[in-house]
Amino acid sequence: MALLLGDIVPDFMADTTTGPISFHDWIGDDWAFFFSHPADFTPVCTTEMGRTAQLADQFAARGVKPIGLSTDSVEEHLIWIEDVNDTQNITVRFPIVADPDSQIAKLYEMIHPGESQTAAVRSVFIIDPEKKLRLTMTYPMSVGRNFDEILRAIDALQTGDAKGVALPADWRPGDRAIIPPSVSNADAKAKFPQGFEEICPYLRIVDINVT
Ligand code: BEZ
Repeated sequence: MALLLGDIVPDFMADTTTGPISFHDWIGDDWAFFFSHPADFTPVCTTEMGRTAQLADQFAARGVKPIGLSTDSVEEHLIWIEDVNDTQNITVRFPIVADPDSQIAKLYEMIHPGESQTAAVRSVFIIDPEKKLRLTMTYPMSVGRNFDEILRAIDALQTGDAKGVALPADWRPGDRAIIPPSVSNADAKAKFPQGFEEICPYLRIVDINVT
C-alpha cells in the first residue's frame, strides 16, 4: 500500500554505517531527511552524499537528521564513503542504511520497476518528530536532487507548523505567507494583529516577520 502524507512511517531495524538502528528511536525528537540511492560507487549518488555532508550544519540548524539508504551492504557503504570523502572534500558523518535484500526499499516503495527491478530510485522522505510523513519527492536515477529545494521545503513545513500559515509558490524564509482558507477573517484579525492584505476573499497575505 502506498505511503501517504500524514501516515506514520514504517519502523524498521537495520545496520548502518554508524551502527545498528531502530528507525523511530533513531529519529527521536528530531526531524529526519531519509533519502535513497540506486547504488554505491555511482557518480550522481556520490555528489548527493557529498552535498548532504556539506550541508550538515544547515540540517542541524533545522533539527533535521539526514540518513541515506542504498541497496548494498555496510561493508560496501564504508568503502564508498572513503571515495565520497576524497572526491567531495568532506567527511560523511550521517548514517547510510544497508539494505542488501531491498526489504526497506520495498517497504518504502523506493523500487520503481519501470526504472529498475533491483535498485532504488531517488526518494526523499521528510519525517517529523511524531514520525509522520510530511513530504515526499521522487527523482529518477539519472537526476540528482536539488538540495536548496529540500532545505526550502523543510523551512516551509516548519514555518507552517509554527505560525499556522500556508506558503505560496517559490516562498523563501522572510517572504510573506498565506492565511489558510480554514481561518475566518475574524480569527485572522485576532491571530495576526499586524494585519493582513486581502487580495481576494480566499487569498490573504500576512507578513509573519512582524508582530
Ligand atoms: C548515479 O548515481 O550516478 C546513477 C546510478 C544509477 C543509474 C544512473 C546513475
